[in-house]
Amino acid sequence: MTAVRDLPEGTWHQLARPSLAYLKPFQAELADLPVERIRHTLGLDHVVKLSFNENPYGPSPKAIEAMQATLASLHLYQDATGDLLRHAIAADLGIKPGEIILTNGADELILLLALALLEPGDEVIIPSPTFGQYQASSIAMGARPISVPLPDFRIDVQSILTAVSPKTKMVFLCNPNNPTGTIVTSRDLGHLVDELPEHILLVADEAYIDYVTDSSYASALDYLERRANLIAIRTFSKVHALAAARVGFGISHEPLIDLLHRVRPPFNVNGIGQAGALASWQDTDYQEKMRELNTQNRAYLYSLLDEANLPYVPSQANFVLVDTKEDATMMCKRLAKEGIIIRNAAIFGLSRHVRITIGRKEDLCRIGQILDER
Ligand SMILES: Cc1ncc(COP(=O)(O)O)c(C=O)c1O
Repeated sequence: MTAVRDLPEGTWHQLARPSLAYLKPFQAELADLPVERIRHTLGLDHVVKLSFNENPYGPSPKAIEAMQATLASLHLYQDATGDLLRHAIAADLGIKPGEIILTNGADELILLLALALLEPGDEVIIPSPTFGQYQASSIAMGARPISVPLPDFRIDVQSILTAVSPKTKMVFLCNPNNPTGTIVTSRDLGHLVDELPEHILLVADEAYIDYVTDSSYASALDYLERRANLIAIRTFSKVHALAAARVGFGISHEPLIDLLHRVRPPFNVNGIGQAGALASWQDTDYQEKMRELNTQNRAYLYSLLDEANLPYVPSQANFVLVDTKEDATMMCKRLAKEGIIIRNAAIFGLSRHVRITIGRKEDLCRIGQILDER
């Protein structure tokens, strides 16, 4: 039998799903590398990574302790359905454990949704710019992403409704939206929930929900009773600072959760992550502290940007989209030389913008100094 590596170039395409021709493997640029490698690449002792919307303060000490306690039993498979964690989340949110599915980060949930529901020919409405995995997962299943532009960096619910066609299967709504940091208000979300045809799944990605301070915001959870075809996505990668532990979860009605379990690998969420997530979920003081620091540091970053006369989009998340008023590469390079790595928003089609994660005050202060030196 011919080994795959011996196949003539191009033959791969005959083996793969045709839609994969439209996707590229993840290619790490400087801003995507682990801190150690960035340090090595740039020849710098100190590097601050503000390109991934991570929590710069690290996990709760209680989460670290809980994760360490699991190490001696790593030879045993963990609980495949993460019952302790699901029960804790369900009790606090006032829902049933069966209405929650745990996944290997929110990323896996997005992929599972595509795997369970999408077929070639289906259309998926994706307000853009937004998080890239909605498009990638839809394309992987042969579905067609229908991009709906954001006027003024805000997701426009009416444009989503206008884009609906007989082929629409799913709508992705990132709320707050990455990379703009803007929200869909509870009024607009309610309108979408009521007006979107019932057979279409509305996916509300709430990865950044914990950072929202605007009282006009509401979670999709508030609308679950009003709509069957609705799922909320959450993650432990942001306020809980457990990005590398890879724990996310979805909340919906049991029939949809059941569909997702059919395509879920049985041991998708590792035991270390489950233990850390449970301890962190219960450490509400820590979450509150992280939220408070983000709010303070976000205001501090605004003040630096105001001083530098750089326009930005007011954010409800742990990052800010900034108009550099020039090719964004210039600011990325200027900051990288000083060991500060930010996200060039050209990957979102915004060639003048950068997305800066709300770092610690001292790191943001350094950005202010570099901007002053221009
Ligand atoms: C909007 C949004 N959804 C999902 C994710 C993925 O989160 P996770 O680390 O849980 O896979 C991210 C990551 O940055 C994100 O920005």
